[in-house]
Amino acid sequence: MSLPRLIFIRVCVAFLELLTRFADLLVLLCRPWLLSPYLGLWLREGLASPYRVRRSFELARLLNTTGQHFNELMYGETPVFTGVWLFRKAGLGKGGRLVDLGAGRGRTLLAARWLGAGARGVELLPGHVLLASGPVAKAGAELVVGDAMHADLQDATHVFTNWTALTPETRVRLVERFRTCRPGTRVLTVTRPVEAEGFTVLSRHRLLFTWGMEHVWIHEYRPPAPT
Ligand SMILES: C[S@@+](CC[C@H](N)C(=O)[O-])C[C@H]1O[C@@H](n2cnc3c(N)ncnc32)[C@H](O)[C@@H]1O
Repeated sequence: MSLPRLIFIRVCVAFLELLTRFADLLVLLCRPWLLSPYLGLWLREGLASPYRVRRSFELARLLNTTGQHFNELMYGETPVFTGVWLFRKAGLGKGGRLVDLGAGRGRTLLAARWLGAGARGVELLPGHVLLASGPVAKAGAELVVGDAMHADLQDATHVFTNWTALTPETRVRLVERFRTCRPGTRVLTVTRPVEAEGFTVLSRHRLLFTWGMEHVWIHEYRPPAPT
């Protein structure tokens, strides 16, 4: 890659980071009790970036158990303001419960808490959970280590997954997991919709993420009637 292009990309990334952080802080001013957890997550990002995942023997073994490739761990986040807008649009609020499959450092969970909903994140990499579970708990949410393919979705009213980096094969397995949701659960996916029987698209949106604009689909899950 040429140097001017590299500089241009770096400048765009820095601009997006500033923009999303600033907008998050504005939104969080309406829920001041979430500011401390948010700043805690941000501080930990400064200490150890989630964007740099090192290849190691343990990681290779972990990916072997889930049947995934290293590139599927590519990182990116949903800003809190994006999450608040999207989750509200999907009907999340008090009495609801969001489960984020592949929750990273848990930024989406703060958005769900902003709306007064319960929130749980399931993340494969223990390093993310170790750093972020403290601030997330302070916000009244839960971030746990686990494989999304085995997550318990029985208590979810809303399931979110930022599956941009997942391969088609992994997405197929995740859709099978979505089928363990209760009828009526809203399933929200980034970049690609769920293309399977039982998932009705309610709406599609184009929203800002830490890497740029991306499409998001809100589906409702109703298992097909037995024939
Ligand atoms: C693009 S990040 C999204 C983070 C967060 N959901 C957000 O939108 O801000 C995707 C995350 O999914 C995690 N992941 C990938 N495969 C997973 C699996 N099988 N189970 C749980 N997490 C997984 C990755 O480690 C990464 O942290």
